[in-house]
Amino acid sequence: MRILFIGDIVGSVGRKAVKACLPGLKAKYNPTVVIANGENAAGGRGITSAIAKEFFELGVHGITMGNHTWDQKDIFDFIDDEERIVRPANFPKGTPGRGHTTIKVKDQELVIVNLQGRTFLPPLDCPFEKADAILESLKKKHKYILVDFHAEATSEKLAMGWHLDGRVSAVVGTHTHVQTHDERILPSGTAYVTDVGMVGPRDGILGMDRQAVLQKFKTQLPVRFVVDEGKWHFHAVCIDLDPATGLGTKIRLIRMDEDQFIFE
Ligand SMILES: [Fe+2]
Ligand SMILES: [Fe+2]
Repeated sequence: MRILFIGDIVGSVGRKAVKACLPGLKAKYNPTVVIANGENAAGGRGITSAIAKEFFELGVHGITMGNHTWDQKDIFDFIDDEERIVRPANFPKGTPGRGHTTIKVKDQELVIVNLQGRTFLPPLDCPFEKADAILESLKKKHKYILVDFHAEATSEKLAMGWHLDGRVSAVVGTHTHVQTHDERILPSGTAYVTDVGMVGPRDGILGMDRQAVLQKFKTQLPVRFVVDEGKWHFHAVCIDLDPATGLGTKIRLIRMDEDQFIFE
């Protein structure tokens, strides 16, 4: 089992990057399953059914979300019926959609779980307890489980990695949009990275127009952020899992740029 996990896709520039990179990545890595974080896909805020459809048509098998899940009102019309999209599982009880799902590709199955951190983010239910409850509900029936932990603090993400080490195949962080260089297989076999990074405008600030972000920092006045235009960068991870145990054997960072993306 090989998973290609693509970091937060931001706006139309991010979608263009996915279109440009995915065929070459598929040819080079031959992933069994492709998962992408889509919380910023629609103009930086949320996702629409049309955009989700576009990702599925490009070969994405499952989509994870995050704190921007509800930013497009369109989401309420399709999230209950779309079994390939997960939003954070520790949102309040009764929230539309699902926090984990099973992605089936040919004869293989991968459970994807989405959780959101609580440090510098809204005070949701405990993501650690929620992770335990989901694993309990799966009753060890699934070999391959990937957790997208959508969180701000590196410490909280590392804590989740250690909390789930040996109990899930992989814990990948999203939300900060900056790829971290700490990818590893933890001692009990879980593939881990603190943040996968983003796919979208390279010269903005986390994908947003940098003039607006700068103005906000300098003036502390309310500023409307818009997605930056221009060239993209693309961040993902490729994770190999052992078919005997479901645990990680290898995790590689992928980092590309609109000016240099040659697939050897
Ligand atoms: Fe994001
Ligand atoms: Fe986020």
